[in-house]
Formats: sequence, structure tokens, C-alpha cells
Amino acid sequence: MSQEEGSLEARLEEQETFEPPESFVEQANVADPDIYDEFANNWPDCWERAANLLSWDEPYDEMLVDDDAPFYEWFTGGKLNASYNCLDRHVEEGAKNRAAIKWEGELGETRTYTYGDLLHEVEAFAATLRELGVEEDDVVTLYMPMIPELPIAMLACARIGAPHSVVFAGFSADALATRMNSADSEYLVTCDGYYRRGDALDHLSKTEEGLEGVDHDVSDVVVVDRLGDDLEHSLGERQHDYDELVDEHAGASVDPVSRDAEDMLFLMYTSGTTGKPKGVKHTTGGYLAYTAWTSHAVLDLKPADTYWCSADIGWITGHSYIVYGPLALGTTTMMYEGTPDYPEKDRLWEIVEKNQVDVFYTAPTAIRAFMKWGTEYPEKHDLSSLRLLGTVGEPINPRAWKWYYQHIGNEECPIVDTWWQTETGGMMITTLPAINTMKPGSAGPPLPGISAKVVDSQGEEVDAGEAGYVTVDKPWPGMLRTLYDNDERFVEEYWEEYSDPDADEWVYFPEDGAKLDDDGYITILGRVDDVINVSGHRLGTMEIESAVVGVEGIAEAAVVGGDHDVKGEAVYVYAIPEEGYEDQEADLREAAEEAVLESIGPIARPEEIVFTPELPKTRSGKIMRRLLEDIASGNELGNTSTLRNPDVVEDIADQVGAD
Ligand code: WT7
Repeated sequence: MSQEEGSLEARLEEQETFEPPESFVEQANVADPDIYDEFANNWPDCWERAANLLSWDEPYDEMLVDDDAPFYEWFTGGKLNASYNCLDRHVEEGAKNRAAIKWEGELGETRTYTYGDLLHEVEAFAATLRELGVEEDDVVTLYMPMIPELPIAMLACARIGAPHSVVFAGFSADALATRMNSADSEYLVTCDGYYRRGDALDHLSKTEEGLEGVDHDVSDVVVVDRLGDDLEHSLGERQHDYDELVDEHAGASVDPVSRDAEDMLFLMYTSGTTGKPKGVKHTTGGYLAYTAWTSHAVLDLKPADTYWCSADIGWITGHSYIVYGPLALGTTTMMYEGTPDYPEKDRLWEIVEKNQVDVFYTAPTAIRAFMKWGTEYPEKHDLSSLRLLGTVGEPINPRAWKWYYQHIGNEECPIVDTWWQTETGGMMITTLPAINTMKPGSAGPPLPGISAKVVDSQGEEVDAGEAGYVTVDKPWPGMLRTLYDNDERFVEEYWEEYSDPDADEWVYFPEDGAKLDDDGYITILGRVDDVINVSGHRLGTMEIESAVVGVEGIAEAAVVGGDHDVKGEAVYVYAIPEEGYEDQEADLREAAEEAVLESIGPIARPEEIVFTPELPKTRSGKIMRRLLEDIASGNELGNTSTLRNPDVVEDIADQVGAD
């Protein structure tokens, strides 16, 4: 059906579809539908299309080495440097004065770094890191908010071949310590503070507290002065002032280190089903080629574009689609420090208008918040510069999709709903914006060359109309290579479920449920493990549970996700007080919340903490998490007769949402 037929409302209700506008197709980087066959018929050599977007110091000898699966290698023998690919080569090609990063601080100040400026500062900071003693393969931890010094530090690390490990600034001191300990990281770059809703947040004290939990020597801590006050020197000799060091090294020339394609570019920690975060390892060649390729094919980025991904660089989305992908393509990438509703709820649209943003990439949780605030905010601004919209992080409900399409895209911009993970490095399942029909709520088919399937519990592909689990049965360049220092857990976590090692058949299991339709489109249903997705951020329920049961007076706890109209899912805690503590619920609640904030950070703040004398358990003693999820989501409760203690269910349900 063409776009003109029927109202938008009616079309959505009938699960109608949307076609890419002709004006978009005409200018798109990838518009030939044959690309799917080309990739399929020429796999794995098809990936040279991705590799060819990069400049290699030495060409690779082999596209894919799979002798030691699932420890795959891509572009083996090739050598390159990520910082060179993101900076020098654009400058050499004459783009010295093109904006690389346009940054907007929460208070309204702006900074633009041209490719020339960015290269200059990256070299100065790379020289600094070297002088501090950072050597190739040393892991440098970056605990920084959305300030330009974060991508600068990332690229400086990449330049000298030191993998970075970025820790989201909103994470707690404990979370910083856990990650530094896990990676044996002896160098830290941080800042004094940053702004949130107009208030200066103290980041240095949190850093200091985190450092106390690091069990090895941290030799150097570089502190960026974001707040402009006198910097406190509370960390002693090892504390250095970023500005001073960069000034000292201004004009330094630091040759980019030629890295093997398979050398680690960075580590990124993500939550899993156990209490311990996993260090996902990404490599220089495969990751960079994959993020450049998907930025080109899916986000349709071109050097002349101003592109904005509103994620935080502390998550994989920001690594892949604020920093590496867009800069590898020579695009102008935007960064915004603050919140979308400060000082007013039109802040993002003001930024889009002012900077004439061409492509905008955000998360469903943000779109649901915009929807709640109302159309008056985007309507205040001219958003006609936009050409393409994207979403990532969680399933988008058709109503939010429609709102985005209508009120941000003016029904003129295709939307790409991109499914991927920290581990996949880049987008995996999504429409190609100039080629595929859009179906609100459904991510789309797997990208060309990506062998994602929906299978049943036996690993057999499901029929159209059925639900199952997402799997990927062929490797891809952007995939994680292992979990840092833990090959065993890597195999266990991702490959054990569906692979047949005896037959040397390896199947990656992302732990997401999904449904397949007649056109091969995949609708993601959500996680099937004990991981919840709050505002597009992955949180392990076990991590939260272990924080809660650490509280004196709490005997047992179960943490589950419940539906939330803005966050997608919210954290619900059900806890059993220890004997003698039953009448201290208010104190326990406060202590439990505090414990969660301390061990993870405000993103994990519980929506509700419910005390109960018992948790619903099966006769074999297993906590019925499904039931707790249904209670949290306000769903109708099914049969509880198989429980050992069916009575507790009603008591708990009465308490949830009671206030
Ligand atoms: C999990 C990965 C990829 C960067 C952000 C999150 C969920 C991601 C979608 C989407 C439905 C999605 C999945 C996935 N997810 N994108 N378009 N539709 N669900 O990265 O923290 O590694 O989380 O986010 O459940 O497994 P992450």
C-alpha cells in the first residue's frame, strides 16, 4: 500500500508498513537491493566492502580465520591504526577545517573541534600518556562524562595502541573499582565534575572513593578541569592536570602505532547473569571496519553530514556511533553533555535546529519521554534538516515509533530500528533505510552478511509467525573476540547453548527472544536471561540482588524487571527481612536503595522495594521470577497452585503500586 492510502493511525493499527521516501533513496549510500544476495553469495569475502572503508598500513592476508572457533579472527595479517583512520587520513585528504566534533555543554557553552584541532589535541594527549609511562597494550581507564576530552582520550589511547576501558560516569565508585581491578588498569583519566540540570556534580570525590577500592597500584590519574574551579589535588603525586599536560605537549607529533587487525582496541564492561560484569574485548580491524560499514550503510553517513547520536559514550552505542563509526567516515559528530529537559523540554530540538542535524539516533526510552512531554516542544523548532532517524537499545512500541516518525521526522525520514549489543560491536538486525519497507515495532531483517536466525529451544528455525530465540550462526567482523582474561566464560556465556563443538558448528546466542514474520523480519521480544533493560541500559538482576542482600537486616532478595511506560523496564526488589528486623522496613528500604546506588549507580535505583516474609517459590524451592515480574508489571497472575506458598503472592501484589 502506498503512503498516501489511509491515515497513519489506521495503517499502524492494521500493522501497515512504510516505504522509504524517494528523496532519501536517491541520495543513499546503499540503495541497491542486490546487496543482500551479493553478500550472501560472496561470504565471507563480502566483508571487504567494510574493510575498504578503512586505510590499512598493511593489507590483510586472510579475511576470516576460523580454525579455532569460536575464537575467530578477521582481516588476519592486516595492520592499521584506529586514530589514524579517524583523524590523520581526513586531514591528509584536505578536511583539516571540517568540524569533527561539535560539543554542547549543558549550560549552553559550545566547542567545535575541526579534524585538524582534534588531531592536534589527540597527539598532545597521546604524547602525555606516553610520558606518564603508558605502553602499548596497557589498559587505560576513562571515567568521564560527555565532554570532548573523552573521545580525545579514547583516540589518544588508540593512537599509541593502549586499549581503553571507558566506565560510564554515572556508575558508582564501586563499579569503577571493580572494572579497574578486573582489567589490572594502572592509569585513569577522569574529571572534577560535570553538569546535570544546572547543578555541578562532584565527580572527583567519587573517583577518589573508587580508587580506594582498587587493589593494585594506580600510578597516574589525569584530571580534566570541567567545572573551572580551582582543582583540588586530593590524590597526591599521582594526580595530574589534563590542561597543563596537554599545553606542555602541544604540537607534539606522535606517529600512530601500526596495530594488528586482531589487537585489542578497547574493553567495555557489560552486565551478565552473574554478579561480575563481563569485559567485552573488541579489536582494531574488525570492530572499526564494522562500525564504519554500518555507519555508512545503515546511518547513511557522509562527510558533509552533521550527525547526532544522543547516547552516552560510556556505553557501546556511544563508542560505535558517536566516536569510531562517524569519525572513521569523516562526518561531523555531535555531543551533548546534559539532559534533554534542561533548561526546557525542547533542548534536543533546539540543538537539532541550531546545528542543522541531518541524522539523529536515539533510544525508545527517550522517545517515550518526548511523547509524554507533548508535541509542542518539537513544534517550536524547524527540524527539516533531518533526513534519517534511528533507535536502539530496546524494543520500540509502534505508538512511540509513530510519534517519532510524525513529530520528529515529519513523515519524511525513514526510521531504522537497530538491534545489536555491546558484544556485537555494531548493528545486526535492522532495515536498510533506502531499501526495506519499515514495519513499526519490528527491527527488520538481518543486515547483509549477518546470519541471524530465530530458532526454537532445539535450535531449529521457527516458522513465520512463531516466537523463538535469536541466534547468529556465522561470525561477523564486529563481534567480540573474548571476555577479558576469561576465554572459558566467553564460550560458556555465548556459545554453549546452541553450538555443536564436535561438529565444529558454532552458534552465537545473544539471549534475546524474538518473533519471525513472513518477510523474514525479526521482532525482538526482549531478554530471556536474568538481565533487565532499564532505559536501554543492561542491568544484571544478580548484581542488584547481591547489593541488596549485603544490607544488614535483609535475609533474601529477588530482583526483577517490571514494565515502565518511559524506562521500558524498571527495577523491582522483593526482600525478606531477617528475624528481628521486621518492623524496620523504612530503614531497610533506605539502606537497600543506598546499597544499590553505591554498588551500581542511579540508573539501577529501584522503582519499588517490597518487603515480604516469603518469596513465592516452587515446591523445589526455586524463586518464581516470572510471577514476580507479572506482579511488578501489573499483569494478571496465572495459576499459582504449583507454588509451595501460594498465599504470599496476594500479599506481595497488594503492596506493589500501593502508594
Ligand atoms: C540488548 C543489548 C546496542 C546498544 C545498546 C544496548 C536490547 C538493543 C534493540 C532493539 C529491541 C534491543 C536487546 C539486546 N536491544 N537494541 N532495536 N530492539 N531490543 O546494548 O547494553 O549491550 O544491550 O539491548 O535485548 O540484547 P547492551
